[in-house]
Amino acid sequence: MKNKEEKNQVEESEKHLLLDHDYDNIQEFNYPLPSWWNGIFIICIVFAGGYFLYYQFLGGPSLKDEFTVEYKVILEKQAAFKKLNATFNPEFYQKILADNGVAKGEEVYELNCMPCHMEQGQGDVGPNLTDDHWLIAKGTPETIYPVVFNGSEANGMPVWSELISKEEMYQAVAYIMTFHNKFVKGKEPQGEKVAEK
Ligand code: HEC
Repeated sequence: MKNKEEKNQVEESEKHLLLDHDYDNIQEFNYPLPSWWNGIFIICIVFAGGYFLYYQFLGGPSLKDEFTVEYKVILEKQAAFKKLNATFNPEFYQKILADNGVAKGEEVYELNCMPCHMEQGQGDVGPNLTDDHWLIAKGTPETIYPVVFNGSEANGMPVWSELISKEEMYQAVAYIMTFHNKFVKGKEPQGEKVAEK
């Protein structure tokens, strides 16, 4: 019987890599793993050790700590946004109007406001926006915007500054202004009658 190296025509230079077993004439080389692979493997093990030590014993932040820090940043951003944008900005409103604000506002209104104020603004859960009576606002963009921005949560009007963008709030105001004094039959007048200037 021929010896195994001859059987499978193994190169001289590879003979030392040939493993000692032979299954139905199938033989294997034992090539060492490439050094880059071994290197990465060892780096991963070292990294995992350090990671474990840091987060388990050396006071690394927990997920909850990280959340608290990130959440604080969000709250600060929200507070800064409120401080900057809570009052009506006439120039910004003009810019929104010039940029197709009413048409865009119709979309914002349909998505967000219609369930309570109804299709033509005639009111249901929320008050009628087409009459000359107002609960909080006074029928002008300057007075409507803060109501949208701050909402009236106790009475069921959401705080829109936390839900939609500044642009969308202004667009919604622009669209609501088209309802003004259309007197669509719906919810009975609420609040005080506001005289036209
Ligand atoms: C979940 C129901 C609901 C939704 C949705 C809603 N509103 Fe209201 N809205 C109300 C209620 C209720 C009031 C009355 C609040 C009060 O009496 O203090 C109100 C009041 C208002 C007022 C003041 C009316 C007044 O007489 O002074 C404006 C303006 C207004 N909403 C605009 C909007 C806009 C714009 C949207 C969409 C971005 C919207 N609302 C979405 C329920 C809603």
